[in-house]
Amino acid sequence: MVRHFLKDDDVTPAEQAAILRLAHELKKSPYSARPYAGPKTVALIFDKTSTRTRVSFSVGVSDLGGTPLIIDAQTSQMAGKESVADTARVLERQVAAIVWRTYAQAGLEEMAANSNVPVVNSLSDDYHPCQILADLMTVQEHRGDLKGLKLAYVGDAANNMANSYLIGGALAGMHVSVAAPAGYAPAAAMVSRAAEIAATTGGSVSVYVDPAEAILNADVVTTDTWISMGQEAEKAKRIADFAGYTIDESLMSQAKSDAIFLHCLPAYRGYEVSAGVIDGPQSVIWDEAENRLHAQKALLVWLNEQSN
Ligand code: CP
Repeated sequence: MVRHFLKDDDVTPAEQAAILRLAHELKKSPYSARPYAGPKTVALIFDKTSTRTRVSFSVGVSDLGGTPLIIDAQTSQMAGKESVADTARVLERQVAAIVWRTYAQAGLEEMAANSNVPVVNSLSDDYHPCQILADLMTVQEHRGDLKGLKLAYVGDAANNMANSYLIGGALAGMHVSVAAPAGYAPAAAMVSRAAEIAATTGGSVSVYVDPAEAILNADVVTTDTWISMGQEAEKAKRIADFAGYTIDESLMSQAKSDAIFLHCLPAYRGYEVSAGVIDGPQSVIWDEAENRLHAQKALLVWLNEQSN
């Protein structure tokens, strides 16, 4: 049966741990796995802009012996011109996997339902599960075992990064704490799903309005842009709504003294994070950005093995 990765809990806690172990191995031995030798081709479809995802998947597929094929949805027959199902039927006969950055989660589900090769969500409006794998790998590098660590996310807790931290962190047995102003809290269904998972892994989920409460004694502090892709028209309102939610030195001091700071990037200094924090000694964002490569390679290797 083909395995897809459309959201964080498309893998079990044990499977997530196995992918992370492989990611560390591949970081040490980058060319030790060659599932796409041939070379086989992997389709990398982008409906939205990207730097890290485009580079890390392209380099990753090459490292795995394959050829990355970048497809810009706007200049293909996608983006509303041809159905997702028909696109899947064309691609699955020629590529070894389909990686898609898009808007609606439903589109990814339709792609997966019509594909006999793995489909990977490289960011949707609802989740960014590849980013969370890289983030968890980075936390392991700097803090060791994930179980029992407190991860605090401050900002737009209704966005894709927050959802993936809630679900992915719960899978890893972490205590995930989020803080958001009124109107930006995570969906109740997302919180209950994360809490349900956390109950099986020893983790927990907490939702706050006050960012200092969420960050208190955290091992990992993180945030994301206040204006996600597609929300540009709401920029002025969002900047006003998130006043007081900038992770600056004062808020960061609520965390443990050896806490690390993560940001998926791109970052907007002076808005969701101060320059002093993101460019300071607790920030591990460049390791995090590099780990996109290793974590996604591990994911592709694992999906390929599971699907054969
Ligand atoms: N973090 C992330 O997904 O970066 P890009 O948008 O540059 O791919």
